[in-house]
Amino acid sequence: MNSLKNRDLIGIADLSKDEIRAVLAQAAEFEQRLASGEVLRLCDGRILATVFYEPSTRTRLSFESAMHRLGGRVISVAEARTSSSAAKGETIEDSARMLAGYADVIVQRHPVVGSARALADAADVPVINAGDGAGEHPTQALLDLYTIEREKGALDGLTVAMVGDLKNGRTVHSLSRALAHWRVELDLVAPPELAMPAALVAELRARGVVVRETSNMDEALQRADVAYITRIQQERFITPDEYLKYKGVYIITADVVRRARAGVSILHPLPRVDEIAVDVDDLPNAAYFRQARNGVYVRMALLAMVLGAI
Ligand code: NCD
Repeated sequence: MNSLKNRDLIGIADLSKDEIRAVLAQAAEFEQRLASGEVLRLCDGRILATVFYEPSTRTRLSFESAMHRLGGRVISVAEARTSSSAAKGETIEDSARMLAGYADVIVQRHPVVGSARALADAADVPVINAGDGAGEHPTQALLDLYTIEREKGALDGLTVAMVGDLKNGRTVHSLSRALAHWRVELDLVAPPELAMPAALVAELRARGVVVRETSNMDEALQRADVAYITRIQQERFITPDEYLKYKGVYIITADVVRRARAGVSILHPLPRVDEIAVDVDDLPNAAYFRQARNGVYVRMALLAMVLGAI
């Protein structure tokens, strides 16, 4: 039974653990079917609209690739901030009504926290949040879970270090909430000014997650099964100087990986700036390019499920 039909995905808490499991299982099935050379037509005749008010390469292209791989079609505004009617002052609510007439499912990225909710409330087709400012990025969390399970063999029993801009980074907000369904320990590594929001840390602890907060990356990497590295979110800083204070605070090099717990998997939602040196790329620990590829399978699963195609 597919309980995701016609549902929105705004925050990762919109999905139960069983629903997350169902998406991951469907993604694994699609991965296998694509690998065997099957051509899928499950979303034949359906249209996805992607509307991105913030830059994106992976998220938009992997959603579009996913829809094409399901046999569906895509309409897209890649530079919605400047090239859509938002630039003329159109509200999200008006855009929603219009887009719902053009497409069967809408994927939006927008700089304002809560904007995906606003779109979903006004649109009568499913809306998927591809990032709302420093809020959430639930589909990234799903592909992160998929990748972690692939790399480690399981989600229970892991110690995960999240490193970087945990205040502004929406991927870690969604991923930490998602991981809280499993038995995990989290080491949150950030400069104090860029720490994970206190309310979220409290929420995770209340759900039984062992959370340690530190600014010492090397120490956290001693016990990490997974190191989830993030970019300092330059676009969320008010002044360039503010950003420059933190740029480069954590840099993973091959030497850092050698000093870390043996077998640690290195993940990153990408794009990276300088936080992972290129000498890490060829180590078996580097999982971030495999992670990016997994986005297609996970987004195929999600689209097919919300469209009721499976
Ligand atoms: C992330 C995002 O947009 O939040 N990128 C992505 O979707 N893979 C991470 C980031 O931009 O740092």
